[in-house]
Amino acid sequence: MSSTHFAAQTVDLSTSYLGLPLSSPIVASASPLTGEPDGLRRLAEAGVGAVVLPSLFEEEVAAEEAGFVAATEAGTDIFHEALDYFPDLSGGLGVADRYLADLERAKTELESPVIASLNATSAGGWTRYARLLGRAGADAIELNLYFVSADPHRRAADIEAEQLELVAEVRRASGVPVAVKLSPFYTAIANFAGAVVGAGADGLVLFNRFYQPDIDLEAMAVLPKVSLSRSADMGLPLRWTALLRPQLPATVSIGLTSGVHTGTDVAKALAVGVDVVMLASELLANGPERASSLELELRDWMAEHEYSSAKELRGSLSAASAERPEAFERANYMRTLRSFELLGR
Ligand SMILES: Cc1cc2nc3c(=O)[nH]c(=O)nc-3n(C[C@H](O)[C@H](O)[C@H](O)COP(=O)(O)O)c2cc1C
Repeated sequence: MSSTHFAAQTVDLSTSYLGLPLSSPIVASASPLTGEPDGLRRLAEAGVGAVVLPSLFEEEVAAEEAGFVAATEAGTDIFHEALDYFPDLSGGLGVADRYLADLERAKTELESPVIASLNATSAGGWTRYARLLGRAGADAIELNLYFVSADPHRRAADIEAEQLELVAEVRRASGVPVAVKLSPFYTAIANFAGAVVGAGADGLVLFNRFYQPDIDLEAMAVLPKVSLSRSADMGLPLRWTALLRPQLPATVSIGLTSGVHTGTDVAKALAVGVDVVMLASELLANGPERASSLELELRDWMAEHEYSSAKELRGSLSAASAERPEAFERANYMRTLRSFELLGR
């Protein structure tokens, strides 16, 4: 065993996320892998610091809730005072019941924190499910604000106000820490990120990926398509973490998601100040065991560069971005374009 390898074993990767102590900053992001017991078990064996379960979608719980109201109101004068149980309308388990059961099972089987995920666009009665997730043992909730604003009559300010109301509602209801997973598509993301924290978010997850549909020219039809990310996709969350980290209170956690594929990707994310990285594509493409070799790559890189802990590496570049934000802003744009070399000409 080389001396570097020996040192690599001793690197301390522990971190804290949303106030939870984690053994590693490598977290399994919401994906089909975290939605089944075998995937969860293998991720745990591969040493991930935490797992995020696939999302419970607002549309699903709202539909179930609508069915529940219809069922309880049909021909009766029942007033359901107990708001905190899931309706079972079909004789089988409803979508929210199933989610709750999966969460409870994950909690009994895993030692590392289990984060439940809500995917939503609007505030409303359904957000009481956030409380049930907290009560069922979720260590935290990730609220994914996935919204495609295609209506020309809806103003950015109104959409943002509604989303902030949702964040506050989920935080109030859940009783556990809440991270908000944002898209990069806000007019003034720095302002909105601060407002999300002001509304009660304990952390931000930068950024969710919007899945772009493709066109099937033969059938002249729209094809829904999920494509996996590449390391190049990490540039956007990397830049915004570097810019936002120095502006947010140190108690606010940042998770980076999109484009993390290698140990050096994780090192870059730590350097700009993230608390955790959240991976889906790399683990879906190569299996849950990839989390373990990724951790080794990170350890090797850190040992080689004489970082003894994630804490030491964390934020070593975000301080620089506070002093020299132009490295991440427009001033660098012109220089970067001019530096492009026309290869082979
Ligand atoms: C097949 C698939 C399913 C996903 N399901 C969810 C989900 O239910 N909720 C969510 O917030 N993100 C979901 N994501 C997004 C991932 O959690 C992750 O944030 C995103 O893929 C970027 O990370 P990556 O570049 O490592 O893939 C999903 C991604 C993939 C590829």
